[in-house]
Amino acid sequence: MTVLVAHRADLEELGSPAGRSAVVMTMGALHDGHAALVRAGRGLVGAQGRVLVTVFVNPRQFGAGEDFARYPRTLEEDIAIAGEAGADVVFAPDVTEVYPPEGTPAAAITVEPGRLGSELEGASRPGHFAGVLTVVAKLLHMTRPDLALFGEKDYQQLVLIRAMAQALDFPVDIVGIPTVREADGLAMSSRNRYLSSSARDAASAIPRALRVGQEHAAGGAQAVESVVRRALEEATASAAVPMTVDYVAVRSLDLGAPPRSGEARLLTAVVVDGTRLLDNLPLTLGPP
Ligand code: PAJ
Repeated sequence: MTVLVAHRADLEELGSPAGRSAVVMTMGALHDGHAALVRAGRGLVGAQGRVLVTVFVNPRQFGAGEDFARYPRTLEEDIAIAGEAGADVVFAPDVTEVYPPEGTPAAAITVEPGRLGSELEGASRPGHFAGVLTVVAKLLHMTRPDLALFGEKDYQQLVLIRAMAQALDFPVDIVGIPTVREADGLAMSSRNRYLSSSARDAASAIPRALRVGQEHAAGGAQAVESVVRRALEEATASAAVPMTVDYVAVRSLDLGAPPRSGEARLLTAVVVDGTRLLDNLPLTLGPP
């Protein structure tokens, strides 16, 4: 049985589990990608442990004009999916439980993500990562897990959360989980629900382009970026819906400058018919 907890005070009443505890933070509209995180959490803490899923559409990580108001809210289904995947508890607080009243000194305190917070996703979404890190820090304090699981799907977010845990000495293991994809390779995302069938067709070019990039990894970072850009531009030209490429970037594993050879990450963001879609893949650069 999965228990729904709406209030912070009720979290305290759960007491400590017999084993370790794992947290999977989400904004709801759960899909198989989220379920994979829950299953991995259960696998890591075992039957004696506790797996807690948070569902909170965090207003602070949406910019003006973004999709906060229309973001899908499906709590009943989320509880069923989380329970099926092995969660014991779903914590779904109201915004007033999470943030102090506007205008108070506490409401103005945030976690500053540093330079990486204004690159890649952050370049198009100012303030986004400050909003993410602030809510993740708060939810870690509220739920006090031994480990917290995040998807590689949001690779920059994962890197920044790890960096925050290190910088601010959070006593938690941050665990990254590989991206779960649809049959045609599109990364699962709550925002895929916004796509019409022609937008959905166009979106399938994104993972295809990244795989072409992966095949050119021996040629180095610039070769990969240009081949992926070309593949996405071709897809854009033939798409039945408006499609714009925001960035294609090869970076080091912690999102600094790419190495000449060795492990790296290829990342992209593409806006398909108004919906921002992210994807990324691992690469091994340089001659094989
Ligand atoms: P959300 O987009 O709901 O994602 C919740 C978690 O699920 C994140 O760690 C995300 O990377 C992971 N995830 C999403 N799609 C995935 C997929 N296809 N495969 C594997 N993992 C996937 O990310 C957020 O919410 C928010 O920013 C949050 C961290 C909850 C802070 O508000």
